[in-house]
Amino acid sequence: MPSTSSSINRFMTKILIIGANGQLGQSFQYWAPYFPHFKFFFKDLPEFNLLNQDQLEQFFNSTSINIAINCAAYTAVDKAEDEPQKAQQLNLQAIDTLCELSKTFGFKLIHYSTDYVFDGTADTPYSEEHPLSPIGVYGNTKAEGETVMQTSGIDGWIIRTSWLFSPYGKNFVKTIFSLLQNKEEINVVADQTGSPTYALDLAASTLNALDQNLATKGVEVYHYTNSGQTTWYGFADKIKQLTHTNCGVNPIDSSAYPTKARRPKYSVLSCDKIKKEFNLNPQSWESALEDCLKKIK
Ligand SMILES: NC(=O)c1ccc[n+]([C@@H]2O[C@H](COP(=O)([O-])OP(=O)(O)OC[C@H]3O[C@@H](n4cnc5c(N)ncnc54)[C@H](OP(=O)(O)O)[C@@H]3O)[C@@H](O)[C@H]2O)c1
Repeated sequence: MPSTSSSINRFMTKILIIGANGQLGQSFQYWAPYFPHFKFFFKDLPEFNLLNQDQLEQFFNSTSINIAINCAAYTAVDKAEDEPQKAQQLNLQAIDTLCELSKTFGFKLIHYSTDYVFDGTADTPYSEEHPLSPIGVYGNTKAEGETVMQTSGIDGWIIRTSWLFSPYGKNFVKTIFSLLQNKEEINVVADQTGSPTYALDLAASTLNALDQNLATKGVEVYHYTNSGQTTWYGFADKIKQLTHTNCGVNPIDSSAYPTKARRPKYSVLSCDKIKKEFNLNPQSWESALEDCLKKIK
């Protein structure tokens, strides 16, 4: 679904996708053929390691790019509590490195962050300007990565998103889909509220936004999720309805499902800014889920 904007700059924009084999990275791979005026370079471990300065310099010295889209991150929320240095290396130090490379090689950086930079005590959607107050290591390292980028003096966007799902990699929809086929009953947390986001919609919207504005100056923060909100229980129950399974889905409190990392109780992001600036209209999480399940089956 490429943009039809007449103001599109039609030179061959070169876009590097970092972390190309993750769920968001693979979503960019899915859409690449629909944006023929963008030339994509898809990179991931082991040949493109954000923690290997030599590999990075070798790439940027030999390939001139206009935009780097960073889909790589340390995303294991609970594991991060046990290995904060590893989370920090990828979510903070690697962003610092990318900012330095952006200054040297003159590319714009598109970076993703998370609803977990907020503590979840709000009861209305978080705006881009709301102060950051993460309650776990993962959220803390992502918040630090944002600060590094915002103070670096480079040009780019930080796009915060939440509850990412897709036909690719590991995510809640794939986990619940599989449990529903194999269990008679499952318990799912019903006291955390957020907005599921289809990685394919996020990738397409990022490319549509870039199509409209390549001349970004400074670092802009945006929020992007599918429209609507739910709990993990509501999300699981909708997967059950759409897949017509007989497995019971029971709502439980988070206190009955202890995890290493605390999660925000409420982390709905207000997406008014990105919708208005780029004329985007994200579909509901329910219709995005239907599309995802068709692709999984
Ligand atoms: N998942 C969510 O629910 C969620 C929610 C909100 C925000 N986000 C943010 O959205 C973005 C995309 O998340 P995602 O779920 O697509 O992540 P993901 O599936 O975990 O993908 C991350 C990718 O980065 C790669 N990677 C790991 N270490 C690397 C390194 N040193 N150098 C280069 N690549 C490396 C991973 O490779 P390996 O698999 O081989 O390690 C993987 O292919 C992240 O910024 C994340 O913080 C995600």
